[in-house]
Amino acid sequence: MIKKALWISPNEAIGHRCPIFRKNLNFQKELSSAVLQITAKGVYVAFIDGRRIGDFILAPGWTSYKTRLQVQAYDITGFLKNGSELSVIVGHGWYRGRLKGFWGRNPELYKEPAELVAEITLNFSDGTSETVITDNSWNWAESPLISSDIYDGEHYDASLEVLKFKPVIVSGNNLKALIEQEGETVKEHESFKPIDFFVTPSGEKVLDFGQNITGYVEFTVNAKKGDRVHLSCAETLDSNGNFYTINYRSALSEINYICKDGIQTYKPLCTFFGFRYIRIDSAPEDFSPDNFRAIAVYSDIKRTGYLHSSDRKLNKLFSNIVWSQKDNFLDVPTDCPQRDERMGWSGDAHVFAKTAGFLFDTEKFFSKWLNDLKADQFEDGMVPNVIPDIIGEGGSPGWGDAVCICPWQIYLAYGNKQILENQFESMCKWVDYITSTTTTEFLWTGRSQYGDWLALDAPKGSLKGISNEELIASAFYAYSTELTVKSGKILDRDVERYENLYRKILQKFRETYTEFNTQTECALAINFNLADDSQKVGERLVELVKKAGNSLTTGFIGTPYLLHALSKTGHTDIAYSLLLREEYPSWLFSVKQGATTIWEHWDGIRSDGSFWGKEANSRMNSFNHYAYGAVADWVYSVACGINVPDDGAGYKKIIFAPRPDNRLKYLCAQIETRQGTVVSSWSYNENGALNIHIKTPSPAKFIMSGKSISLEKGEYNFTY
Ligand code: BGC
Repeated sequence: MIKKALWISPNEAIGHRCPIFRKNLNFQKELSSAVLQITAKGVYVAFIDGRRIGDFILAPGWTSYKTRLQVQAYDITGFLKNGSELSVIVGHGWYRGRLKGFWGRNPELYKEPAELVAEITLNFSDGTSETVITDNSWNWAESPLISSDIYDGEHYDASLEVLKFKPVIVSGNNLKALIEQEGETVKEHESFKPIDFFVTPSGEKVLDFGQNITGYVEFTVNAKKGDRVHLSCAETLDSNGNFYTINYRSALSEINYICKDGIQTYKPLCTFFGFRYIRIDSAPEDFSPDNFRAIAVYSDIKRTGYLHSSDRKLNKLFSNIVWSQKDNFLDVPTDCPQRDERMGWSGDAHVFAKTAGFLFDTEKFFSKWLNDLKADQFEDGMVPNVIPDIIGEGGSPGWGDAVCICPWQIYLAYGNKQILENQFESMCKWVDYITSTTTTEFLWTGRSQYGDWLALDAPKGSLKGISNEELIASAFYAYSTELTVKSGKILDRDVERYENLYRKILQKFRETYTEFNTQTECALAINFNLADDSQKVGERLVELVKKAGNSLTTGFIGTPYLLHALSKTGHTDIAYSLLLREEYPSWLFSVKQGATTIWEHWDGIRSDGSFWGKEANSRMNSFNHYAYGAVADWVYSVACGINVPDDGAGYKKIIFAPRPDNRLKYLCAQIETRQGTVVSSWSYNENGALNIHIKTPSPAKFIMSGKSISLEKGEYNFTY
């Protein structure tokens, strides 16, 4: 860990410009090894003699900077010779960019200087060592990175030949916030060549990469000094086939590159975009689409889960869910990667956490984010709505509850108590916060909230569904308290107080809410075991689904629980009908409309090609929001029936209870768990016989048609 280095920064204000810091490393002895430890206020890219060090994109990542700033360590032995130049560009990133000004342009913007801190340990063959630190012996210059912003993109001037270096100032020695790298590093992953290059009806030259991704484009051009490459991003085209950027809102998302002479290659250094299409606003005359590639950038989470079926559209939905996870797992779980948000909205994270843990190994990723949640939780226990907290607001039911739901899901998926140990105090504080701020004892009332965000039953002009907000809030109060009790018991804590509280919440909920009038109200009551008579609420849910034309009306809060609620009350056939429905509103509707990721709205693009919403709101229309992708957890745990009981966390025990439906010929779910590979698949043969294949790395139970069989580790086939 960095112990002695000093924070350095430019000795004058440089506005939007990004500085480059420089130091020559001189040593006389034979080097045996060298390590660079480094971090920045901003995002940095480090080079030795012009060669980039490491493959961490957007280092040091995004944390609650006030108290937590990750330090990276790189082995630079192979890079160094006596006199080598270490140089570091610091872009604005999340620390200094206008991200902070989400609620309007921040007048303080760019006032904080870019700062760098680093320590280089040189170990010599004779057993001695030397430490070089950032101090006033370093220089800085205005780098060719003229501006760089998470929302707006980059402006880079490669024609600048000579940089004017000046002395740095030492801006501080406070290293208290520095922590070791905790999260996954962010890396480049898949790359895509354009699948099409065309001119739109309004004359725009557009490249189509075929997949909505998070990352950037790299291009190679043969140019004259001063030529310009100007590129813009879009997720979709409009109904006339023109480039559509309105849904980026104020995020400019552009690359503006000034060429030097000759053949040159560029990709952004300190930013990212959410896009499928690139518009070539300007480029040297002989540019070729073949010299462009799109690179997906996201946290280095390992893929663990695979879903496959006999239905092409369903498979595309599965692929879209995987892509929306990749695209929104860029160091923090974001709502979307394109418009002027890209923030760690806690509600979105809670609804998707279980699915995320099937598809990828998310333990390290979420552990870091939950530590930020803990760091940003208010003194009184309120959980901010976005983590890291840059908007200073919080406490919304279903959003703040991520504090209890996410650690619990991570614990079940990986079986490591440490996550509960780390978060237990936070969970208690959250439940205590609700208890002390509610206006009705044992319910959660009097709180402004997002309700069933973007539900289809929203009254005209509202973004919130009609579900009773206090019922939603009270349901989450109960659920968070229940998870706090369960977690405390696993940790051997005394949770009697919370057990009593839970009983009282349950009783009061049952007394108060005797009718359930929306799909979301029913879904929450059933899933959180709150209704006196779940079966009856299940019938009511079916009635509401039928009344809506055999379709869903739910939003962010109800959707993840809807199919589970149907299955829990014996209506799996209806759950399948919703899953396989192709007309609007449904999951497969977006697939039919050509989606390559999960949309924020059920009708992001309508059948007639028009976009969601009316003028005022239509800018809030992301085509890459993972929340509704949470349906994958129903496919895993109900359709294929893979379940981890509370006492089998980490797949040490498994319950297989598949619920096949012959509208699909075949469905397969696979997960690489910490215990080994888990598979549950089923298929119908031509005679209608059902074959089920199970692979379990742990002792398991297999439940089918009301019968339960114990299984040892191994592979099994059943025929019905
Ligand atoms: C975000 C959501 C988020 C919500 C809060 C939106 O602008 O994109 O995904 O959860 O605000 O209601």
